[in-house]
Amino acid sequence: MCGITARVGGDGSLEPLLSSLQNLEYRGYDSAGIAVQNGRGIEISKFEGEVSKLESELADRDHDGPIGIGHTRWSTHGPPTDANAHPHTGCQGRVAAVHNGIIENYTELREALQERGHEFTSDTDTEVIPHLVEERLADGLDPEAAFRDAIDQLEGSYAIAMIVDGEPTVYATRNGSPLVIGVGDDANYLASDVPAFLEFTDRVVYLEDDDVVALTDGDHRITDADGDPVSRPVDTVDWDPEDAEKGSYDHYMLKEIHEQPVALRQTLHGRIDGDDVALEEFPPGSFDDVDRVQFVACGTSYHAALYGEWLLSKDGVDATTYIASEYAASPAPVDEDTLVVGVTQSGETADTLEALESARERGARTLALTNVIGSTAARTCDDALFIRAGPEIGVAATKTFSSQVATLVLLAERLVRDITGSPTSDHADRLDALASLPEHVESITTDSRAADISQRCLGDNGHFFIGRGNAFPVALEGALKFKEITYGHAEGFAAGELKHGPLALVTPETPVIAIGTGHDEARLKSNVTESRTRGAPVIAIAPRTASDLADVAEEFLPVPATHPDLVAILANVQLQLIAYHAANAMERSIDKPRNLAKSVTVE
Ligand code: AGP
Repeated sequence: MCGITARVGGDGSLEPLLSSLQNLEYRGYDSAGIAVQNGRGIEISKFEGEVSKLESELADRDHDGPIGIGHTRWSTHGPPTDANAHPHTGCQGRVAAVHNGIIENYTELREALQERGHEFTSDTDTEVIPHLVEERLADGLDPEAAFRDAIDQLEGSYAIAMIVDGEPTVYATRNGSPLVIGVGDDANYLASDVPAFLEFTDRVVYLEDDDVVALTDGDHRITDADGDPVSRPVDTVDWDPEDAEKGSYDHYMLKEIHEQPVALRQTLHGRIDGDDVALEEFPPGSFDDVDRVQFVACGTSYHAALYGEWLLSKDGVDATTYIASEYAASPAPVDEDTLVVGVTQSGETADTLEALESARERGARTLALTNVIGSTAARTCDDALFIRAGPEIGVAATKTFSSQVATLVLLAERLVRDITGSPTSDHADRLDALASLPEHVESITTDSRAADISQRCLGDNGHFFIGRGNAFPVALEGALKFKEITYGHAEGFAAGELKHGPLALVTPETPVIAIGTGHDEARLKSNVTESRTRGAPVIAIAPRTASDLADVAEEFLPVPATHPDLVAILANVQLQLIAYHAANAMERSIDKPRNLAKSVTVE
């Protein structure tokens, strides 16, 4: 959602603050602002639009200051306007605050403050925070006590950073929204996410809910809700700052599509041992007590989870996938033998965290399958398995999907062996194919006709993605990717469902993209023929040698022949490229699609 950043120390120039805001923009990009302290009081600059607008507005202003906070917004309360952009201040301008999350009781707080004479200048829930703090400062409380008093009154999920006029400190706290400290040599940083300050330091301190931080030049003091000191370790992250930059690519999404071979090598490194998996975290027997598996996830991660469910089910493990927001609302039964796996790239998705919490409270064992070490999911679940894809900045998830599914293939091997007592069917061939996945993906990213074929997908009508078995979640994922960045209507269907309703939508104007894996190929071929009969242009994606879909489709995009259980991962790379090139031809905002944000930390 929104991105928070703060910096204390250094030479006081604005560049580091603006640079961290640029690095955080994937979290929200409808308005941006900063507040600094520079001996002339607190100066706030904030504008509707992207960080580049803020930068150009600040180009001619003397706005430097060693103590600063910044924010890039994804609107929840109030439209994207200059007034609603963060930071917000109170009536006296003594406090500036930035916030990520939702203050659920802001209406009552705002009305009570208004009754006490406070005047509001925005529609946001955030603005109650500086008013509350200023009120307590006026009562004589010191800044930290005033901050604590304000946050005690808040209900909801939030991460907040605040500066107070004349104070050399950034105060911050979190409750359900991520916040991490960056410990630098000549300055300290605070942000919603590590890439914000990775170019300045790789030493990080992950904060926990209810921590209160006083960040100064050279120190970070952490206390709990009662004010007692808390010790949190300083970790070193091994992400390369260049991984979080765009390099020579036009878009992060394209860069991340091309990074998939490297990401997959990292994912698999040291984890395949002959015809078995070698998961350091989970030696044989780790899941002996498990008798069923539930996946909870959202969006792309939900599709990866469906793939995981398919892998487990075919080898006799009781597995079900739930949309996390639905699971949180009406949880499936669990007991201590249930393993609930939260699949989440960021490890911060509020719906997934809530679903995991519901499972944990009811006695299930929880496992986070995530990309981010130190994320809330990784820290709060009983176990974590990291997908090691490296930082993903593009809002449209690409390399993390491939790495999630590859990790699920590894996890499925361990789970099936522990739960059923036997390896997965075909395990030796499948693990062999898994080891070759990076080079197979590379052969697609270096040589694909997807750019040409995408030109058939620029129309205003629907685009339908169909697949069977493990290609069904990839059909859903292909449609999600397409709609997310082209804004075109796209839907994914289990191919067999086409004739039960969706076929009514199929016309010569609706491209149908069919994904063949080798599983159930004859039936998929019938579904393709049914679509062609209605005049639809059909694009088939399948291994050239193992499929005769090319004979019935109008266009054919090949993928390397590999184990049928893994083909859909390769087909998905072609779908990513189709969506990317179609969106590029339509001049869409590919890395920052309208209305979306990378990490959804509100429910
Ligand atoms: C996909 O392109 C989206 N960015 C979105 O669906 C995303 O996968 C979803 O919000 C879940 O995020 P997570 O993996 O960080 O939990």
